[in-house]
Amino acid sequence: MLAILPSLRDALYQLAGGDLVAGSVPRRPEIARSWWRHLRRAGLPASAVLEQLRQAATIGPAQSAELAMELAAGVKVWTEPPVRAGLARCLAQMPALIRRELQIAGSLQTVPAGPADLLPFLPQRVPTFLPNTRREELGDLILGEFRGGGNFAEVYEARDPARPDEPARAVKLSFHPEGRHLLAHEAWMNDRIRRRGCRRGVLPVLALCLDSDVPALIYPAVAGFNLQEILEGWHRHGRMPQPRWVAVLMYRLAHVLGDVHSCLFVHRDIKPGNLMIGRFENGRHDILLIDLGIAGPAARLSGDDWPQADQRRRIIDRVLIYGHSPLYASPGQRRHEVSQARDDIYAAGVIAIQAIAGDFVHRVDDIAWQPILTARGVPREFLDVLQACVSVKEHRRPADGHDLAARLEEVIHNAEW
Ligand SMILES: Nc1ncnc2c1ncn2[C@@H]1O[C@H](COP(=O)(O)OP(=O)(O)O)[C@@H](O)[C@H]1O
Ligand SMILES: [Mg+2]
Repeated sequence: MLAILPSLRDALYQLAGGDLVAGSVPRRPEIARSWWRHLRRAGLPASAVLEQLRQAATIGPAQSAELAMELAAGVKVWTEPPVRAGLARCLAQMPALIRRELQIAGSLQTVPAGPADLLPFLPQRVPTFLPNTRREELGDLILGEFRGGGNFAEVYEARDPARPDEPARAVKLSFHPEGRHLLAHEAWMNDRIRRRGCRRGVLPVLALCLDSDVPALIYPAVAGFNLQEILEGWHRHGRMPQPRWVAVLMYRLAHVLGDVHSCLFVHRDIKPGNLMIGRFENGRHDILLIDLGIAGPAARLSGDDWPQADQRRRIIDRVLIYGHSPLYASPGQRRHEVSQARDDIYAAGVIAIQAIAGDFVHRVDDIAWQPILTARGVPREFLDVLQACVSVKEHRRPADGHDLAARLEEVIHNAEW
């Protein structure tokens, strides 16, 4: 019998309660503590906790949905139906979440020794749909694993059960009031960039469903992880990425960015959650740029040549000016200036610094990152490139992705690693 999910249900229900309706799961440290207490009370030794997690990880989407509904129905009779439904949706995604966490940890996974070790297994938010959900606008595709999402959209893996051999899809559903416009913009950007010849690191949009109450884009599913999952997971388990590995990763990213920049577009939201390492449709394992939702033309707004209605253009322009991620946005972006290729370069520099320093919380201009990186074996030449990328003075940064790639190529070959 699976002991891990009932204990999590009780911990989540007691502590998150009504928040399960709202979507996010705050108080995760307290939930982890309570979950740990429940497991100990049930007499489960620490070594058995890992075994239970491994067992839970083997449950597929259809079975997890069924199990989660059964478990949620078992909470006290007076529970509000929406809370119970939120609890079920949360629990239903746990097997996939646990599976992915265990995969990232790989051989470094240790037996959980306390509540803090359970924290990475806890969901950040409650997805809107149960796995195994069918939505009319998606035709024969059935939603499976929840793959992530922020305030604006949710991404689910999806398959057509009548075509089990077809590669999986990733469906991006938006619940934002302006979701239809934003997804239309994202699809348009992907298409434009791919048409101009940049096919390597940008996914094709396979279909658009914009006229339904929950608009959606359909992409090929990437078999892999986003860089946030990988880097945070590795650092948690004491594995620091080698500086040379980071330089090569950055070099690949710079190439893809270079292609975007030579189309005179800027991504504007380069961050670990928007980069994936993996492959799609039997392609090669590589870095992929996703979430072009706030990408736009370099150094200007959408302009008169933009083939969108006025209303949509106004929405896009607002996003182009105000949408950014505080940790990765360049000083200019934070001042709401129009973006240029050098803003993406700044963000790429921040990612490389974070990847080595293992600090995913502070802005790079608030920490003395240089001595940390030097202590971790980063050669002077690579440090200089990173310093230039995150320079407050824009002209000191490499001009665009291709310029950054050229500098990194030299460093990768000539520095002593
Ligand atoms: N095509 C895909 N295949 C697999 N996972 C994906 C795909 N697209 C997005 N994801 C996952 O979903 C997360 C959110 O997707 P994203 O497009 O960045 O949405 P948002 O606009 O909500 O940030 C990503 O960080 C990634 O982990
Ligand atoms: Mg994103």
